[in-house]
Amino acid sequence: MIRFSERKDFDPAHLVQLYERAPWAKGRTAEETRRMLENTDLALSAWEGERLIGFGRVLTDYVYRASIWDVIVDPAYQGQDIGTQIMERILHHPDLKRVELFWLCTRDKQAFYEKLGFSANEQTGMVWARAKQARFGVTTLRNKARKATKKRVLKGSRATARELQVLRLIATGLRSYEIAAQLKISPLTVKGYWTNLLRRLDARNVVELLGLALKKKLIRKIG
Ligand SMILES: CC(C)(COP(=O)(O)OP(=O)(O)OC[C@H]1O[C@@H](n2cnc3c(N)ncnc32)[C@H](O)[C@@H]1OP(=O)(O)O)[C@@H](O)C(=O)NCCC(=O)NCCS
Repeated sequence: MIRFSERKDFDPAHLVQLYERAPWAKGRTAEETRRMLENTDLALSAWEGERLIGFGRVLTDYVYRASIWDVIVDPAYQGQDIGTQIMERILHHPDLKRVELFWLCTRDKQAFYEKLGFSANEQTGMVWARAKQARFGVTTLRNKARKATKKRVLKGSRATARELQVLRLIATGLRSYEIAAQLKISPLTVKGYWTNLLRRLDARNVVELLGLALKKKLIRKIG
């Protein structure tokens, strides 16, 4: 006979064994799994005698959101409604009846979840994977992101970062010599940037320049 349980104090070795069957959970250790169970809001397991044959868990605020993780059924027991029962016990759990939205992530089990009433959301999920960060180094990634942003800005306006800086100061109403003082460069250099900006944005004067810069979203406001 199959029984369902919400207890979290079972030997994590059972779950580690089940995890070995899923590519996304392979290699999880008993120690990590014990800690995970302790900190999981709701764990639903299915047992036949002493054998763990199915599992699913929830992290939630009990009001707005709940996310469902690690839904898995032992291959020898798949197709016998166990996965469905685990999911239904989660979705209709009395502690979760106020939850507005349940969320889960699946690579290829859409059909299984659709039968339970789930639908694909057009919003794209984003993940931050620690393993990936370690591989590239957080600083490198941040620098890469900065460079990409800078490139995008420059591509859109065909202006250099320094020219954009000057442009933004022009937009605040500063004069050439004031900009020169602020950037600690000569007024002649400022003039050079000014000329470049007029040329790059195809503007005849400062009024046109600022108007085009606003349109291209290079500046947010004038003044
Ligand atoms: C997905 C999984 C949990 C389903 O559990 P299960 O106990 O086999 O599912 P059920 O017997 O309750 O099946 C319910 C329905 O979903 C269908 N279904 C089950 N697995 C399916 C799959 N992989 N693809 C499409 N439909 C599936 C069944 O055919 C059944 O439909 P029916 O009622 O019309 O016959 C199980 O196949 C599993 O553990 N897979 C490996 C781990 C995994 O990928 N988990 C999902 C993580 S997001």
